[in-house]
Amino acid sequence: MKRIVIFASGSGSNAENIIEFFQTRDSISVTHVLTNNQHAKVLDRCKRLNVSSVVFSREEFTKTDKIVEFLKKEADYIVLAGFLWRVPANIVEAFPNKIINIHPALLPKYGGKGMYGMNVHKAVKENLEEETGITIHYVNENYDEGAIIFQAECKLTMSDTPEDIAQKVHKLEYKHFPEVIENVILKNEIG
Ligand code: GAR
Repeated sequence: MKRIVIFASGSGSNAENIIEFFQTRDSISVTHVLTNNQHAKVLDRCKRLNVSSVVFSREEFTKTDKIVEFLKKEADYIVLAGFLWRVPANIVEAFPNKIINIHPALLPKYGGKGMYGMNVHKAVKENLEEETGITIHYVNENYDEGAIIFQAECKLTMSDTPEDIAQKVHKLEYKHFPEVIENVILKNEIG
C-alpha cells in the first residue's frame, strides 16, 4: 500500500476529491491531511470523510524536524492541494520527486510568491488572457519551479470574471489531479 499525505491550507475541495478517488483504489490511499490553518474548511471535510488531520505551526514546519519525522513514518508521497507555504529543505530532501503540487495556472506564467488562488485568476483576467489552466509539478525549494508533470488548458472569454476562471480551473483540477497522482505513483513503483 502506498500512502499519500496531503497538505492543504484552506477549503480543501481538491483534497476531498483526491481522498474520494483513492477510496476506490486498493494499492494507494490518503492516510492524513496536514494543515497550517486551524480554521481551514479542509478539517471539516476530513472529519466527514473519516481521514486523520493534523494542524501544525510555522515554527514546527520550518524550525523543527517534527513534520519531516512524521512524514518519514507516515508517507510515501506528499501532495500539496492548495497549500500556501514554501516546503522547507528538510522535507524536499527527504522526498525527492515524491512531492507533487498543483498550481492553478499555466506555469511558468503566474507563478511565484503571492501567486495563489484568486490572486492568480485576477492576474489572468487583468492580462486579458485567452486561456489558462493547471500545472501539476514536482516540488523543489522554490515556489512553482519544480519539473512539470502535466498541464491542461481551458479557454477563457472576455466576459469571464475571476470567479468564473476559478471555476473553470477547479473543474480541470478535479478531472486530472487524482489520475496524474496515481500515474506518477504507479510508474515509480512498477519501475
Ligand atoms: C486550487 O485551485 C489550487 O490549485 C490552488 O489553490 C486552490 C485550492 O482550492 N493552489 C495554489 O494556488 C498554490 N499556489 P481547494 O482548497 O478548494 O482545493
